[in-house]
Amino acid sequence: KPIYVLGGPNLNLLGTREPDIYGRDTLDDIHARLKAQAGDTPIEARQTNSEGELVTWVQEASKEASAVILNAGAYTHTSVALHDALRACAVPVVEVHLSNPAAREAFRQVNYVAPAVNASIAGLGAYGYELALMAALKLSGK
Ligand code: DQA
Repeated sequence: KPIYVLGGPNLNLLGTREPDIYGRDTLDDIHARLKAQAGDTPIEARQTNSEGELVTWVQEASKEASAVILNAGAYTHTSVALHDALRACAVPVVEVHLSNPAAREAFRQVNYVAPAVNASIAGLGAYGYELALMAALKLSGK
């Protein structure tokens, strides 16, 4: 089964969006590196700006994926619906953030994702995705 790499709102703008905070890699750059790193394990990489679509994908991943790598973007800090979907998810989930939300604005200190996932990686830029993939492979027994 594939590892799902799910991205939330505004991550389609990576590369040009606040590069001092989020770096200069595009989401396509990040996904391409993960695919190269994953070897035989297929990577199903998606991004959406829609909360409901992210919820639907987590539900789908529970059946179709071996693990999930999730950067929920700003929905991390707002979405009870995503929290509930993650609690219902039967496969391991690793949360990743490019920046370190704990060191940023007060509204980013609230996190609805972290209590519902296996592990969280933050503050390491695009490298965090590589670590998340290693963790997802390990957690899914690969
Ligand atoms: C982010 C951090 C969030 O607070 C923010 O809303 C994002 C990106 C990150 O990867 O650092 O969109 O998830």
